[in-house]
Amino acid sequence: TRPLKVALLGCGVVGSEVARIMTTHAGDLAARIGAPVELAGVAVRRPAKVREGIPQELITTDAKGLVSRDDIDVVVEVIGGIEPARTLITTAFEHGASVVSANKALLAEDGATLYAAAEKHGRDLYFEAAVAGAIPLIRPLRESLAGDKVNRVLGIVNGTTNFILDKMDTSGAGYSEALDEATALGYAEADPTADVEAFDAAAKAAILAGIAFHTRVRLDDVYREGMTEVTAADFASAKQMGCTIKLLAICERAADGRSVTARVHPAMIPLSHPLASVREAYNAVFVEAEAAGRLMFYGPGAGGAPTASAVLGDLVAVCRNKLAEATGPGESVYTQLPVSSMGEV
Ligand code: HSE
Repeated sequence: TRPLKVALLGCGVVGSEVARIMTTHAGDLAARIGAPVELAGVAVRRPAKVREGIPQELITTDAKGLVSRDDIDVVVEVIGGIEPARTLITTAFEHGASVVSANKALLAEDGATLYAAAEKHGRDLYFEAAVAGAIPLIRPLRESLAGDKVNRVLGIVNGTTNFILDKMDTSGAGYSEALDEATALGYAEADPTADVEAFDAAAKAAILAGIAFHTRVRLDDVYREGMTEVTAADFASAKQMGCTIKLLAICERAADGRSVTARVHPAMIPLSHPLASVREAYNAVFVEAEAAGRLMFYGPGAGGAPTASAVLGDLVAVCRNKLAEATGPGESVYTQLPVSSMGEV
């Protein structure tokens, strides 16, 4: 069988792990897919940087040229941001590739364009890594629960802020002290705005609400409140009430089924609730479905290797689909339900 060719866009923390695992686990991946997978090109911004294990001849700064190659089977996009990612992904579809993306910002902002391009060209768009890192959540919602009716998705979907809140809770530290520790340990980025102001969690909530309720939810539809104003005194009061504070993403279908709500904000939760024991940078998400009941998904929500695990799972799935000349689930927008950002709390 001819090898399936993979183009990698981005070779940072996640991309380099994807390339490494593709090389070290090449035999296993080939066995699972039914054909070998070959890294055919890696688009980067800084070509001079030494990247262990990646042959220099695969490195290019011409991402557009790479995704325009007609011999590429799968494009893995781990560069993030809206542009040039959106153009590169749509170009990849036009040239016959399927796409695996970890790009939550783009999916939350303009998933419709990506889904439409995938459908038009009969290709796959998989994005398990966009929400909650290694935790299988997107495919359970799109596939395993496709015969059920999901009513609620609720949980902790940002590791950085959970780390900060956990520090404040356990050590009595203030917000900025805990943020400094998160930065020193490499959890928080130099500019922590996306995490602490909950833009990251809101993007994940938009993606989850859209696929859970088969409607279209965009970042702007999500009520968003960051956690920068949570103080050590708030934790002390919460403790007195037998509670702790977590940044929660809450997506719900209205009881009458006529609208959905999506919101992200700090919330007090009882210490007896399973989400209260989600420590450090872990994520945990509850899914409530009519027939299934309550499901809990828990695990590492960020980091190079956990996120690469989700990317590689998607890579295997889209390669299998390609060999079967089939496609996996596309966008499932059955009705455009009104989305209100605040429901009953
Ligand atoms: N900054 C994100 C987090 C990374 O802390 O959860 C994973 O999306």
